[in-house]
Amino acid sequence: MTELHGKVAVVTGGASGIGRGIAEALLEQGATVVIADIQQDALDAAVAELAGRAGERISGHSLDVSKAASYEALRERVLETEGRIDVVCLNAGVGPSGAIRDLTAKDWEWILGVNLWGVIHGVTTFLPVLEANPDGGHIEITGSNAGFIAQQSIGSYSVAKYGVLALAEVLDLELREAGSKVRVTYLAPGMIRTNIGSSSRNRPAGLEGALHDADISKVINQDVRWMEPATAGRIAVRAILADDLYAPTDPSLVGPIRERHARIVAAHEKYPLWKE
Ligand SMILES: NC(=O)c1ccc[n+]([C@@H]2O[C@H](COP(=O)([O-])OP(=O)(O)OC[C@H]3O[C@@H](n4cnc5c(N)ncnc54)[C@H](O)[C@@H]3O)[C@@H](O)[C@H]2O)c1
Repeated sequence: MTELHGKVAVVTGGASGIGRGIAEALLEQGATVVIADIQQDALDAAVAELAGRAGERISGHSLDVSKAASYEALRERVLETEGRIDVVCLNAGVGPSGAIRDLTAKDWEWILGVNLWGVIHGVTTFLPVLEANPDGGHIEITGSNAGFIAQQSIGSYSVAKYGVLALAEVLDLELREAGSKVRVTYLAPGMIRTNIGSSSRNRPAGLEGALHDADISKVINQDVRWMEPATAGRIAVRAILADDLYAPTDPSLVGPIRERHARIVAAHEKYPLWKE
């Protein structure tokens, strides 16, 4: 996709943080943007603020990404009001902490419901619409550097992000092989100044458990370099325009990725028994 002017984009989790940054960057490029979010007060406030700059090119819609029916209602509404959908940013996410050994089924239901199923439902709902466009479209998935490197305290978060990384990589291959004009981007943010540290504000009643809000910069074991959401949003949009699969925001995080892959390669060399 080389041009966003006149295109219609949907951004999940667009009321706050990186999603809001992506929405701003899309508006800067001339797109019409629908931000969809579970938190109605933040959604209304974001639409009101962005309308000051973008007028009628911004609107909001309530969405729970963990529910397929909620996505279907969003798709129908956007097609009805805007007539088309070209770009879908599957960005909504939660980032609570907690050791895997302490987690309950309810914890897993919450974090995988939003961070993994939220992307799966998004692809299932919107891919057919994008593929039906004569000029295709783009699916951006906000993953994480935690989809490359799993870390203690945010293990369940990494389980979801590894999952959406696999989804993005395989979908990209499938679409290219099929000659589709739809492309995929996996945004891998480092540390971005957002409201992710208070993710429990949107935790559904009945899914309480051991996962809890924590300052991620204090629980991860790597140096922290903060970035503003608007910059992360511009990186996502640049990757959409370049049809790039991987869009990392912090090159200083590449060291642990190299070390992890070196450990995996070394393990393969340690077990040569397949030759026997
Ligand atoms: N902040 C970081 O440092 C960082 C780093 C790597 C990846 N990410 C990823 O970026 C994405 C956005 O997070 P953020 O940091 O901007 O946090 P944020 O809390 O500022 O924004 C997340 C948005 O998602 C919405 N949301 C939560 N549950 C939802 C649901 N069930 N349905 C619809 N919307 C829902 C929230 O209301 C909120 O508006 C997430 O996928 C997160 O994993 C963030």
